[in-house]
Amino acid sequence: MKVLGIIGSNRKAGNTATMVSKILSTLEEMNIETEKLFLSDYNYSSCNGCEGCRKTYKCVLKDDMQDIYKKIMETDAIVIGSPTYFYNITAETKAFLDRLYCYEIFDSDDRSVWIPLNEVLGLKYAVTVSVCEQEKEEDMGFTPLALSKPLEALGYRVIENLKVLKVFEAGKVNEIPENIKKAENAGKKLGRYMLLRKNIAGSIKTDNKQ
Ligand SMILES: Cc1cc2nc3c(=O)[nH]c(=O)nc-3n(C[C@H](O)[C@H](O)[C@H](O)COP(=O)(O)O)c2cc1C
Repeated sequence: MKVLGIIGSNRKAGNTATMVSKILSTLEEMNIETEKLFLSDYNYSSCNGCEGCRKTYKCVLKDDMQDIYKKIMETDAIVIGSPTYFYNITAETKAFLDRLYCYEIFDSDDRSVWIPLNEVLGLKYAVTVSVCEQEKEEDMGFTPLALSKPLEALGYRVIENLKVLKVFEAGKVNEIPENIKKAENAGKKLGRYMLLRKNIAGSIKTDNKQ
């Protein structure tokens, strides 16, 4: 079992990174392996809509997204965070999510029939983290939905959409224990889902052997 943390802020010691890192360290304490990446460390373009992925479910663009695809395929859950930039996710996060379009499979005659690759390979879990400076949820605009809707369409069960308000300076989130608690709770919840699933899978295998 492995969880991939994906950070859509350029601020490596920023609020999004802090929240995602706390969720991951909570999972590590539950003996669940994690890996973290900053999208800003990868060079990738936005989706160009070439539809080159139609038959293979693989993106044909040869850039650093290829490394991220490998990590995504290897993991059972993702924790993705983005700060709010003008009521939405950051450009890096949007481009990243659009590049996951290769994992949507459409019926060749009827495009209203489509399934995510995860529906075939097995559902995965996700937690989203949205971070903004202002104090009202409406100041986050589309951020939480811009993260969760594509993931749901990609066959992720989004078990928590964390919203962190009123943090501006990088790392400010650390000074507010309530936020750190929120991250720990989200990590524990995700961990419990993963362990429950693993235990059920194990008991089904044992039953079948009897
Ligand atoms: C280009 C830009 C646009 C922003 N737009 C918003 C906004 O619409 N609403 C808001 O509350 N905060 C906005 N912010 C503030 C950030 O969301 C906030 O500082 C956040 O804590 C940054 O997270 P980070 O430390 O993970 O980078 C904006 C910041 C930048 C740089």
